[in-house]
Amino acid sequence: CFSYVIIYLHYGVCLIYASSVRTHVNVDPAKLKSLRQRWSVKPSEMSKKTLNPIRAIVDGMKLTPNPEKPMIALSIGDPTVFGNLPTDDTVLQAMKEAIDSHKYNGYAPSVGYQKSREVVADFYSCPEAPLDGKDVILTSGCSQAIELAISVLCNPGDNILVPRPGFSLYKTLAVSMGIQVKHYNLLPEKSWEIDLQHLESLIDDKTACLIVNNPSNPCGSVFSREHLHKILSVASRNCIPILADEIYGDMVFPGCDFQPLAPLSSDVPILSCGGLAKRWLVPGWRMGWILIHDRNDIFGTAIREGLVKLSQRILGPCTVVQGALESILNDTPPQFYQGTISFLKSNSEICYSELSTVPGLNPVMPSGAMYIMVGIEMEHFPDFQNDVEFTERLVTEQSVFCLPATAFEYPNFFRIVVTVPEEMMIEACIRIREFCARHYRPRSQDSHELDQ
Ligand SMILES: Cc1ncc(COP(=O)(O)O)c(C=O)c1O
Repeated sequence: CFSYVIIYLHYGVCLIYASSVRTHVNVDPAKLKSLRQRWSVKPSEMSKKTLNPIRAIVDGMKLTPNPEKPMIALSIGDPTVFGNLPTDDTVLQAMKEAIDSHKYNGYAPSVGYQKSREVVADFYSCPEAPLDGKDVILTSGCSQAIELAISVLCNPGDNILVPRPGFSLYKTLAVSMGIQVKHYNLLPEKSWEIDLQHLESLIDDKTACLIVNNPSNPCGSVFSREHLHKILSVASRNCIPILADEIYGDMVFPGCDFQPLAPLSSDVPILSCGGLAKRWLVPGWRMGWILIHDRNDIFGTAIREGLVKLSQRILGPCTVVQGALESILNDTPPQFYQGTISFLKSNSEICYSELSTVPGLNPVMPSGAMYIMVGIEMEHFPDFQNDVEFTERLVTEQSVFCLPATAFEYPNFFRIVVTVPEEMMIEACIRIREFCARHYRPRSQDSHELDQ
C-alpha cells in the first residue's frame, strides 16, 4: 500500500507525493485530498451580488454638516426617529397583553399561527377578493414578504419588472438571486403613473413577475382605479403575475382613494405584500404578510406550497406580535389613522408650497405615503454634476440631508421624508431655498430674455 510523505520546503510551499516505502502509518488518500494547506475563505457569489444602492451611494458621499447649523435628516424612512409620530396606545396595550399572557414565547408555525392568519384575512377580505386564513403568510416585515414572493415566482435567468423610480429592495433581492431586473418608467408629469407602453415593451418570455408599488416609495403617488385597471390589462394580456407592494395601503390624503389591486382583478393572480411598519408606525416590530389572491386558481397549490416551503427556511414572523395582531387590527381607533394622515398631508403641503417657489426646483405633490420627490433643474446648478453632488453640498452648507434619487434609479431628483416635526420641515425648506438661491444660475438665454 502507498503511504504519503509530506515534505515542507523552507519557502512555505508543501509538496505531497506518494512513495512506495512501507511505513506503519496508513492514511486514507480520500481524506488527505480534503486537507487544505492554507486558508482560503472568500465571500460567496450571492454576498458579492448583494448591493443596497442607498448604502452604496450614501456611504460614498462626503457628509460633513455645517457645524453652525444643527443637522436635519430628511432621508430616513422610519417614522419613529423623531418621536413625533408615536403609535396608538391600543397598539402598545395589545403588545403588553400579549407579553403578559405568557402564551407567545415559543415557536409558531413558519407561516404564522392559524388564528393570526385569520385575523389578517378578515381585516383585508372583501366580497370581490375574499380571503381566509390559508391565503395569508405572515412574515418578518414586508421585506420578507417581498423576498418570499420573488423567490417563489422567479428562477435565476428570469426577469422581473420594477418601477423607476422605485424602492431599491426589489433590485437588491433579485440581483442577488440571479434574476434580471427591468425598469419600467413612471411619469412625473402624470402624477407618477406607469408608462404602460414602456412597461409592456419590456415583457418577454422570461418575465416572471410585475412589481407594482402603490402608494409609492419614493413618489408618494397613489394610482387611480382606472389606472390600476390598465395595469391589470397589461398583466392579463401577457399572463404575468403581480407582486403588489401595498405597505402604504390606506395611507392616502383626504380626497384621494386607496384602491387595493386584487379586488379589481378577475384573472391576474396577485401576491399582495403589506405589514404593520408604516400604517401602525412600528417598523421595528417586523411584522408583515403576503395575501394570496388567486380566484382563477392559476397559482394553484404549487405556489402556495412553495411559499410554505420557503417560509420554513427561517422562522420569520415574531410570535409576540402575532399574539397582539387581533387587537392591533380590530381595536385601533380610526382617529389614530386620520391623525397620521392629516399630519403627513400638512407637512407635504408645507414642503410642496415652500419648494415650488424655489427657482430651479420642481416638487411633485404627493397624494399619500410619507415622501415627496423634488426635481432639480441641473442646468441651473452648474456647480454640481448631479443630484448626489447637489445633496452632498446641501449637507456641507446647510446641514440638511435629502436622499439623492439616484438611489431609486432616478437621477436629478431628491426625496424628502415628510414624517419629521413641522418646525423641522419649515426650517429645512428655508435652508434649501437659501442653498438654491446661492447656487442658481439663470441660463444665458433666460438672462437674455430678462435683459429685454
Ligand atoms: C415600498 C416599501 N416596501 C416595503 C418596505 C419594507 O417594509 P418593512 O419595514 O415592513 O420590511 C418599505 C420600507 O420602507 C417600503 O418603502
